[in-house]
Amino acid sequence: MIRVIVTEHYQELSQKAAQLLAAQLQKKPDSVIGFATGSTPIGMYKELINSYNRQEISFDKMSTFNLDEYVGLTKDHPQSYYHFMQEQLFSHINVRLENIQFPPGIFTDADRACQSYEDAMKAAGGVDLQILGIGVNGHIGFNEPDQQFTLYTHIVELAQKTIESNARFFGSEDEVPRRAITMGIKSIMDARSILLLASDRNKAEAVQQIFSGKVEPQIPATVLQLHPDVTLVVDREAASLLNEEFQTGGVCVW
Ligand code: PGA
Repeated sequence: MIRVIVTEHYQELSQKAAQLLAAQLQKKPDSVIGFATGSTPIGMYKELINSYNRQEISFDKMSTFNLDEYVGLTKDHPQSYYHFMQEQLFSHINVRLENIQFPPGIFTDADRACQSYEDAMKAAGGVDLQILGIGVNGHIGFNEPDQQFTLYTHIVELAQKTIESNARFFGSEDEVPRRAITMGIKSIMDARSILLLASDRNKAEAVQQIFSGKVEPQIPATVLQLHPDVTLVVDREAASLLNEEFQTGGVCVW
């Protein structure tokens, strides 16, 4: 089931998403939260920091797993996703360092690194709430369009387009890592609930495709149609290609 919440603008989207995460932690303070990097959740993370500073929320018992990481970057590399999460959220709240789990960017045995991450998620009791962004091509995590779904945590070769697009964050294109480690489609689908955020007109096609009625690995996010508990929080622009019933705002169930 996909619940769609259409908001007026990015700030409202961020507030709504933060409220949903806060509600999860209220219900279950020791929730396991799957976090995502990218520009879309930054506003939500700011809202959570504000709530924490107002002493409305505690992250003391929360455990975290992130979706993906660049291969070859150490945790303290300024472009690592670990560093991003520290900067954007973790260092500002009272999450415990030992409760933060990340797919490793540095490893000697890739298979073992991927399996250990899957094992760690299982040992933690599974992810309660997974936050997701969506790529303009429908990717989720680093699961890019492909001939088939890759189910579990795995290593991906970055597409040339992704390398070019991410070069702006690095000194030059040569410095962009060529590979990433990412949760697979089943790792994501195993989360008890999913919160997907999409903002801006350039995400409208990808958002529309989530409701295509077809599940296809060429548009990875289409798999979400099979999940029992997805909440999609979108702003008006990202919702602009959805059917009329979604345009009225508020909540729609698909
Ligand atoms: P964005 O990335 O939030 O920076 O748009 C989302 C994604 O590619 O998953």
